[in-house]
Amino acid sequence: MGKDVIVACDFSSAAEVYKFLDHFGEEKPFVKIGMELYYAEGPQIVREIKKRGHKIFLDLKLHDIPNTVGKAMKVLSSLDIDMCNVHAAGTADMMRAALEGLKRSDGSRPLLIAVTQLTSTTEEKMQAELLIDRPLSEVVAAYAKLSASAGLDGVVCSPLEAGTVHENCGKGFLTVTPGVRFAGGEKGDQARVTTPEKARELGSDYIVVGRPITQADDPVEAYKRCVKEFVG
Ligand code: C5P
Repeated sequence: MGKDVIVACDFSSAAEVYKFLDHFGEEKPFVKIGMELYYAEGPQIVREIKKRGHKIFLDLKLHDIPNTVGKAMKVLSSLDIDMCNVHAAGTADMMRAALEGLKRSDGSRPLLIAVTQLTSTTEEKMQAELLIDRPLSEVVAAYAKLSASAGLDGVVCSPLEAGTVHENCGKGFLTVTPGVRFAGGEKGDQARVTTPEKARELGSDYIVVGRPITQADDPVEAYKRCVKEFVG
């Protein structure tokens, strides 16, 4: 599986995202579309960006009963996306239903990765509010293993957790990692960050990079720098 940089297109309208993508010529970055853009513009935004030649990670983090998630995934798969995700907390049954729903008639399907615990969930909150009485790192490892056993392709995690995930779930189990910043760059609201180069050393398979590219004076140059540092 080749390493790649996924650009988080956290824009609130189609006009903004097209303006951003117009900077790129022949280069067609793998892009992440999140809830804000998808809910604002609907499935058409996915079709349009796909038509422009980009691979798409649709980051909608599904979590519902297996039947509902399976049917929703069938719809998303028909949009010709390349990667999507669910919450592992939906259980192995839900994850298997998601995989089943994603299968296309030609046998292909988008990659499916799981969210273990959101990075906004602290160990304290997880224990006090979700009544999960274990260390957070143990929960992340267990949810990753559950996802692997259900047949998923990988998890979203910090580059700092990529090694542990690979140890627990195998080298081929994908780690898709946000929280990446250039050396000396702004951290924004990300607490624990690593550089693209460090993420590569730690074994990340895909890095998800938003503002360091989308807010750069020269987004194409920032993207190329990221690819050079991460992919080599
Ligand atoms: O702008 P920035 O590089 O921080 O963007 C990172 C992207 O990855 C955002 O779309 C953010 O929502 C997403 N993300 C994250 N941390 C997670 C999961 C997703 O930053 N644990």
